[in-house]
Amino acid sequence: MMRLESLRDLFVEELKGLYTAEKQLIRALPRMAKAAASDELRMAMQEHLEETEQQIDRLKTIFKELEASPRGNKGKSMKGLIDESMEAIDIEAEPCLKDAALIATAQRVEHHEMAGYGTVRKYAHLLGLDEAANLLQETLDEEAAADQRLGEIAQSINEAAHAQA
Ligand SMILES: [Fe+2]
Repeated sequence: MMRLESLRDLFVEELKGLYTAEKQLIRALPRMAKAAASDELRMAMQEHLEETEQQIDRLKTIFKELEASPRGNKGKSMKGLIDESMEAIDIEAEPCLKDAALIATAQRVEHHEMAGYGTVRKYAHLLGLDEAANLLQETLDEEAAADQRLGEIAQSINEAAHAQA
């Protein structure tokens, strides 16, 4: 059982979950991009992969400042979401329908990350860790932008998926 003594402990624990989640995404995003039929969708996923690498670097910077290890959280919630994305890769369907399914799982991942970064950004602010709060806000903004972009790409893909068959 985990024992926490302070908000700072909880902050570190939540950051570990995000770190593990981003590491999992680094492996998943190239596979999702490869499975995408839409060039626009593939590009969005590839670009988000590059952003994800920067997000990991930001987390490493914060762990260093906290003198804490990024390891130790299994990131179970993200693993479940990524498992769904991996299942979407193997779906047999018309390309636009499969892309719609991929986007559905990708947006769930983004929302999960937005929830996580929103939480830790508030903790950082409360703990007076302004530099960490700024870095976490940057990542939160990237996740929100990625979600928005996926939502925009989904519009035409969903319509095409609805129109066919
Ligand atoms: Fe991320």
